[in-house]
Amino acid sequence: MLTLRGRAPRRGKALSDLGILRNGALLIRDGVIAAVGTGSKVEALPEAHAAEKLDVGGRVVLPGFVDSHTHLIHAASRAEEYELKIAGASYEEIARKGGGILNSVKKLHAATSEALKKRAADALREFAAYGTTTLEAKSGYGLDIASELKILRLQRELNLEQPIEIVSTFLGAHVLPAEYRSKADGAQQYVALLTDRLIPEVAAEKLAEFCDVFCDRGAFSRKDSKIILEAGKKSGLSPRIHAEQLTRTGATQLAVQMGAASCDHLEQVSAADVRALAESNTIATLLPGCDFHLGLKQYAPARALIDAGAIVAVATDYNPGTSPTLSMPMVLSLACTQLRMTPAEAIAAATVNAAYSLRRDRRVGSLEVGKQADVAVFDVEDYREIPYYFGVNKCWMTLKKGQPIFQKAHTVSGWPARNPL
Ligand code: NIG
Ligand code: FE
Repeated sequence: MLTLRGRAPRRGKALSDLGILRNGALLIRDGVIAAVGTGSKVEALPEAHAAEKLDVGGRVVLPGFVDSHTHLIHAASRAEEYELKIAGASYEEIARKGGGILNSVKKLHAATSEALKKRAADALREFAAYGTTTLEAKSGYGLDIASELKILRLQRELNLEQPIEIVSTFLGAHVLPAEYRSKADGAQQYVALLTDRLIPEVAAEKLAEFCDVFCDRGAFSRKDSKIILEAGKKSGLSPRIHAEQLTRTGATQLAVQMGAASCDHLEQVSAADVRALAESNTIATLLPGCDFHLGLKQYAPARALIDAGAIVAVATDYNPGTSPTLSMPMVLSLACTQLRMTPAEAIAAATVNAAYSLRRDRRVGSLEVGKQADVAVFDVEDYREIPYYFGVNKCWMTLKKGQPIFQKAHTVSGWPARNPL
């Protein structure tokens, strides 16, 4: 059992401390962990006698993953762009031709609420099947008042109707919508729409806890990002930021200055950015699925960030344009092979540190008394096998607040003994 007990968040050497318990057991009361210890100790507790026993057969048990960066609600894949990218077109070229995020915006505008909700609900089941129990979800494929509010309201409904906890982020500043592009002061007008109308409405309806901006070439400038994030902050939405993904814009310095909860991507950070993050409480959220899917060679400098003392988290960035995966185990594999993180560091980055970035570290991210019994069980003998096996699902069971929400199905009965001649 990987308890991940102890202080959150984790920096430097502490990131490798998984708090491993051999033959570990949990006593769960009303969805909350009432005791953690070795099996013999927990079973000897008076309350354990009457408890229902769940034997996971010596498998590896860890806190459910906290996926701290997703774009959950979107209408469809962008498989057509995937082929263009393989043929050599860059992400930015495709975006300039009206593809990219605007392609997903068009698709979302054409979709019904029912279809959007069904797609997200199906995805949530799949997240659970890979061991995720809490996730952050950003709006950002609506880009007008009605559609952005619709996405956030759908997230709220989904949060109430299924077991995975959804933490909402408002990302109205994903890119400049098409209708603002032809106007000279289009960017200014759209920023004003966000700060004067959308952000106050999102806050009044309590539709989000965080406000995010995609600060990059082809998206929002550092100056506009600051205006938007400040408006968010004034309305009680904590800043998160898509930073230094395609180009270095200085977004990381802005994030640190503003006390952002998280600064995400970071492929293009400078040494000074790494130092600034290390001296701050802003989490460096790394998204290696993007670079893998886009076929890019430059991953974020995870080793430098960890060694400097920054708080590192990893997440899927589940979205149709740059990272269409919802598998945290796959992200752990990429964190190990591409970011050169150890399996232990990757697991801590995907649990305790990610929980901290969502301000949920007192409830989730570790297996400790008083925390929610959000648990993933992997059918492996050694925790290092979780990233070691890639592209296959070794998740055997997932529990949310003590209730099973996923259990691996057995193979069909009547698996043929041999092939007929
Ligand atoms: O996190 N970088 C901006 N947003 C997404 C990509 C969105 C898209 O291409 O649809 C990201 O990579
Ligand atoms: Fe993103």
